[in-house]
Amino acid sequence: MTEAERIRRLYDDRAATYDRSLGMADRFLLGPFREAFGAALQGETIEVGVGSGLNIPFYAPDVTRVVGVDLSGEMLRLARERASCLRLPYAFVQADAESLPFPDASFDTVAISLALCTIPNPRRALLELGRICRADGRVVMLEHVRSTSRPLAALQHLLSPLNERAIGCHLDRDTFALVRSLGFSFDETQSRLFGSVRFAVANPPVGEHATLA
Ligand SMILES: C[S@@+](CC[C@H](N)C(=O)[O-])C[C@H]1O[C@@H](n2cnc3c(N)ncnc32)[C@H](O)[C@@H]1O
Repeated sequence: MTEAERIRRLYDDRAATYDRSLGMADRFLLGPFREAFGAALQGETIEVGVGSGLNIPFYAPDVTRVVGVDLSGEMLRLARERASCLRLPYAFVQADAESLPFPDASFDTVAISLALCTIPNPRRALLELGRICRADGRVVMLEHVRSTSRPLAALQHLLSPLNERAIGCHLDRDTFALVRSLGFSFDETQSRLFGSVRFAVANPPVGEHATLA
């Protein structure tokens, strides 16, 4: 079984309890970030790793069309139900973030939340996000990452293997260092909990970075 297949099965099995499993953390810790995430979306938008669609209620009125992508058909089923309140065209596609079935420069906004921690090869996924984003578009990211506090980062490192086995989620990825190294530049960043939860609005890579394999 490939790692993507393992993740897909994990999230198909977890879908029914996913929202509840986030508990109070989603409301109090992530809630304000989900609001900022939704407010940053505009124009033709794609949300990659859309999951059960917890960001959907926060989508800004500036969004003109939205596509949600996920590996898990069960998570997509929940997102589709949530999207029924949207007054804009939407579609859901079961696909791998590492190989997205969209032409270059297809979207004004490419968004991702709490998925770069789980996607097996985040570098490949980020290159795909940059590829499908228009040059004057934006990439909106909300992720939990390795903390800037050494003791917390050490704890994340210790617990990460257990979490990876259980739900495919890495606790200690330095995702934003990777994002920067691939040529994305940031317009706005915010963080909480000693830098372990971060929100960013970025510009896609340009020039040689945009074509890195
Ligand atoms: C922790 S959930 C986050 C869901 C949602 N974005 C949120 O903020 O609640 C991670 C999601 O990423 C999806 N995922 C993981 N790897 C993926 C991949 N390679 N391609 C597409 N989706 C993926 C999982 O199926 C799951 O729905």
